[in-house]
Amino acid sequence: MDYQQLIVETNNNILYITINRPQKLNALNKEVLAELSTAVANAQNNQEVKAILITGAGEKAFVAGADIAEFQNYTLEEGKLLAKNGQETVFNAIENSAKPVIAAINGFALGGGLELAMACHLRIASENAKLGLPEVTLGLIPGYGGTQRLAQLVGKGKAFELIFTADMIPAQEALQLGLVNHVVPLGNLLEKANEILGKINLRAPLALASAVKAVNAGFNSQLNGYDVEIAEFGNCFDTQDFKEGVSAFLDKRKANFKGK
Ligand code: COA
Repeated sequence: MDYQQLIVETNNNILYITINRPQKLNALNKEVLAELSTAVANAQNNQEVKAILITGAGEKAFVAGADIAEFQNYTLEEGKLLAKNGQETVFNAIENSAKPVIAAINGFALGGGLELAMACHLRIASENAKLGLPEVTLGLIPGYGGTQRLAQLVGKGKAFELIFTADMIPAQEALQLGLVNHVVPLGNLLEKANEILGKINLRAPLALASAVKAVNAGFNSQLNGYDVEIAEFGNCFDTQDFKEGVSAFLDKRKANFKGK
């Protein structure tokens, strides 16, 4: 697959996706969203890929939001479709990815950019990063799951404050709020991400996929997270990886998981 807006590379079982529109601060236009959807969907069926990293090109922005120029003349119906399609094909797909997804936030993560980072399973930010949901400055609200995921990550009161004020907060404050997992100097961002990805790479892939389902189920009002945990726990016993993990422990050797 040829990508025009993304740089997509696989190295050491990690799929690296770089949104590559630095002249527009990596704003999410239709093409970027379509390519992101394809890249994440393809990764699900690619045995070589064990985890995914998403970042932005350049040193200024992860993603400065949805492309404002693109939706300036949208009607009510077009606005709804924009949010629905984006949520279903990109943001929910990332959140439900069977392969762990890490956002490496290398600068501004605003609006749709922060929503993209929040859809990922965990977030590492560079010290220069600034995060916020400034949609109300445009007469909008977040539409790519931001009202839900921000409240899940930082609590309802702080989410209201950030959405109401449109404030951009520095990485350190985001760390204190639990909005990001780690903050490192920009030059160490990929190194830190790779350190975590390296650990993920050694773990049992089907167990990771089960963990994604169980954790996400707790945030889905249609599901009972405890029930999903029971089912997924049981499913793990039916995998070769479980047998390999247990025998490796008993043999005092490193497990060699096959994702089967
Ligand atoms: N959509 C479309 N284009 C965007 C964009 C967005 N969300 N964010 C930045 N850009 C474009 C700018 O229009 C500019 O393009 P130009 O050079 O052709 O004029 C280019 O990216 C650089 O941005 P600029 O505003 O000149 O950089 P800055 O350093 O002065 O300001 C920001 C950086 C992030 C503060 C500012 O770009 C900004 O506020 N962006 C919008 C953030 C936002 O509201 N996002 C939520 C959208 S729902």
